[in-house]
Parts: sequence; C-alpha cells; structure tokens
Amino acid sequence: MKRAKISLIGGGQIGGVLAQLCAQRELGDVVMFDIVEGLPQGKMLDLAEVARIDQFDVDLKGTNSYTDIAGSDIIIVTAGLPRKPGMSRDDLLGINSKIMKQVAEGIKEHAPEAFVIIISNPLDAMVTLCQKVTGFPAERVIGQAGVLDSNRFCSFIAWELGVSVRDVNAMVLGGHGDTMVPIVRYANVNGIPVMEQLIRKYGDKAKAEEVMAAMVERTKMAGGEVVKLLGNGSAFYSPASSAVAMAEAILRDQKRVLPVCALLKGEFGVENYYIGVPCVLGAGGVENIIEFELNEEEQAMFDNSVNAVKKLIDELPTILPEMADILKG
Ligand code: APR
Repeated sequence: MKRAKISLIGGGQIGGVLAQLCAQRELGDVVMFDIVEGLPQGKMLDLAEVARIDQFDVDLKGTNSYTDIAGSDIIIVTAGLPRKPGMSRDDLLGINSKIMKQVAEGIKEHAPEAFVIIISNPLDAMVTLCQKVTGFPAERVIGQAGVLDSNRFCSFIAWELGVSVRDVNAMVLGGHGDTMVPIVRYANVNGIPVMEQLIRKYGDKAKAEEVMAAMVERTKMAGGEVVKLLGNGSAFYSPASSAVAMAEAILRDQKRVLPVCALLKGEFGVENYYIGVPCVLGAGGVENIIEFELNEEEQAMFDNSVNAVKKLIDELPTILPEMADILKG
C-alpha cells in the first residue's frame, strides 16, 4: 500500500520537530518546504541520516518548490514569524497574513486534495484566511491550538495534584489567544473532578478556587511564558506534538475527540467563524463537532473569545485589500 504523504510548509523550529515526529512514527513520507534555500534540504538530509538508528522507513525531502507538495494527503503549515517577548499572537496578524496568503495559494494550486492543519499565528485568523484562499471544504482546513492549550492546562493540574498527566482530562476552548476558555467544570482526574481534589487538598473552597484560577491564568499565558524564557522564538515541541496527534487522527481514521479550530455553522451559537471546539477527527477531517451545554459564565467567556477573533478577521481586508471580496464572502 502506498505511504501517506505529509508536507510541512515552514521548516523552522516547529517544522523541524514535526518532521522528526512524523518520521519516527512512520506516519508517511515527508516533504519540508521553506523559502530559505538550503534550510529544508539540510534539515531533511540530517533527519534522513538517523533513519537506521531510529528505525524508520520513510522518504524525506527538503524543497523550495511548491511542485514537490503535489499529491500530499496532509499539509501542516508553520510558515510565518513567531512572536518576540512582549508581543501577543495578534501582533503577528499583518506580517503572517501576507505569508499565509502565499502559502494557501501554493497549496490550492499544487495539493488541491490535501487536508490542511495550520499552526501559524494568530491561529484562528490564519485558518480562516487559508480556508478562504484555498476554497477547500471547511472540514479539510483546521487549526491546532486547543490540543496544545488543553495539554498545558492538564500539565499544570497534574503538577499541582502530584498525579500522572496521563490521567488528567481538561479542555480549553475558544480562540488561541489571551481570551481562550479553559473549562474548569469538567476538568477531572480519571473522572474525579479536579475542583473536588483541590478542596480536599487545601480543606478550603476559597483557596481551591484561588489555586484553580492561577492555573487557568497560567494556561492562558503559557505560550507567552515560554516566549519570555526563550527570548527569541516561541514554543516548538508542544505545538508540533499537538499537530502530529491531529494528523495521526486523520491519517489513521482514529475518530479522536480533540479540541480543534473548526468552522462553526451555528454550533455554540456561532455562525461562520473558526474557533476552538471539541471535534471528532478521522479520515474525513472534522467529521463532527461535539456540542455540549456551556453554563452562563462559560458561554460569556466563549463569546468574548469569539469577539476577539472577529476583530482580527475584520482587519484582514485592510491588510489584504486585493482579497476583500473573498474575505467578506
Ligand atoms: N513560505 C514558506 N515558509 C516561510 C515563508 C513563506 N512565505 N515565510 C517564512 N517562512 C518560514 C521561515 O523561513 C521559517 O523557516 O517559516 C519558518 C518559521 O519558522 P520559525 O521562525 O522557526 O517559527 P516557528 O517557531 O516554527 O513558528 C512558526 O507557528 O506557533 C506559530 O507563532 C508561531 O507563527 C509562528 C509559526
């Protein structure tokens, strides 16, 4: 049977980890595209030279030509600038929109059947732009944010409770920005509510709520925490692992339930905007959006997050005036 073909657009920090993970898991042959000459070729040659020790049989190719992405089953996009300390993801809108437009045009022309997973920031706006430029069905153009944000939330809970993170379930919905919505009510350790555990640990409800509020805040700002420490660049292991989990769910038709930046058509009260919600990911891409009842407070936070995304989308026609008609459509 033919191997799957995965193309990575952007061969920087995240692109490099993506390539390694895809190869080590033998998800398929990997093509890495970048505009910098030699960079993708060098990284893929370096990676190919560990195939024996890592025991993988996949073809790896670095390129500066979009023609090499032809026939891709999945494309993961990281092209664009990462933020610097003190910047929010939204500050990248101007520069990364122009890059995303070029990338989406390349994908549309050379890999019209591919599923596309976007990682570039500001995430929700970049996914929207990619879908509009390619015109691909929405279930084939999605964004990685919620898997990572949820994993960060799970990590903080696990560290606080002293339990394995594998047993923690917690979800973060909404946009991939400072307004994201960690869902505290359903956070649990193998089904046992986290809040109940915190109240037992501290013997005091108010203290437990304070500890949870701090974890929620850290989750929202977790990307910035890494940016500040690195000093130059943003998180790369965690977004790469998260996107690979999504790609694997599609390639292996796993029907995983993951928080995905997906186009909503009325779900959660949102009409025609991309935002993070729980989805079933399988061979059809987003096969189902799983709706559930948000309480009043959660819905208000979710709506606030949607409004923040809407503001960015409203700016796109000014940044890309030549695309104004498509963007409003
Ligand atoms: N087409 C293809 N690749 C491009 C283009 C373009 N038009 N413009 C820039 N690139 C490439 C750069 O050459 C670089 O190799 O994108 C790569 C980005 O890599 P890094 O700068 O290392 O950034 P990274 O940490 O990988 O993050 C990429 O993901 O999480 C987001 O905020 C982050 O937007 C950023 C993106």
